[in-house]
Amino acid sequence: MKIIESIKEWGDLFRKYKSEGHSVGLVPTMGALHDGHISLVKKSIKDNELTAVSIFVNPTQFNNPDDLASYPLTWDEDVARLEEVGADYLLFPKYEDMYRDGYRYKLIETDYSLDLCGASRPGHFDGVLTVVIKLINITKATRAYFGEKDWQQYRLIAGMAKAFFLDTEIVPCPVIREKSGLAMSSRNKLLSTQELVLAPLFYKSISSGKTTEDMQKELEDAGFRVDYIKIKENRVFGAVFLGKVRLIDNVSR
Ligand code: PAJ
Repeated sequence: MKIIESIKEWGDLFRKYKSEGHSVGLVPTMGALHDGHISLVKKSIKDNELTAVSIFVNPTQFNNPDDLASYPLTWDEDVARLEEVGADYLLFPKYEDMYRDGYRYKLIETDYSLDLCGASRPGHFDGVLTVVIKLINITKATRAYFGEKDWQQYRLIAGMAKAFFLDTEIVPCPVIREKSGLAMSSRNKLLSTQELVLAPLFYKSISSGKTTEDMQKELEDAGFRVDYIKIKENRVFGAVFLGKVRLIDNVSR
């Protein structure tokens, strides 16, 4: 796997691959890779001639500075896992290169991005959409892969691709879970042993078929702080805190 820091080098390389008619799969991540991320990489390798993964902890999507400061970094393990699975390229750009405009320009969705996670994380999806369109434009990807664990994010990115006539297919990938049902997440690494024992109740509760009020009560009684539990479009969406760690999940209803 070739590791590239320079956006210019990355752009030149993939412009060339694209002009030669090669298919390119892009998997954007913020690192601290787990089997959920790796499932996206595997799907891209299956679908495309070349697979490019990016690792960039994108500051503009963190509305809480503590959350950004505590975001887990596991660079050596990440590189080893990507090598092992067979990714071709890894991009890890610098902030100054990604945001040479100082984030004066941003991409904003004005409706769905304000609901669910957007309601409690102002500006979060502006940062996500802005960084994703930058990564897609730099890489000229044929396909880009996103997990349904972040359902709202996936839907907003798919909507953006349509709205801005992007030439990249947005591919959704199913949620990968621990045996306990807990959705894999980089943030699970921040949970204490005790919190890790409690965490699977989140998935169990939102899959239970109970009313959202009963789910909320069950979770609060067990020690979770509930940000929201909502049913929309035949799906149950939830965001909860265990200590300072925010977990999200969704299931079809
Ligand atoms: P990150 O949380 O690192 O996730 C990268 C990708 O992996 C996202 O598409 C996410 O939905 C997917 N993913 C995470 N956990 C998963 C799981 N358990 N099962 C399946 N897919 C999973 O999401 C982001 O980074 C950022 O917002 C990003 C899109 C990279 C923009 O900065």
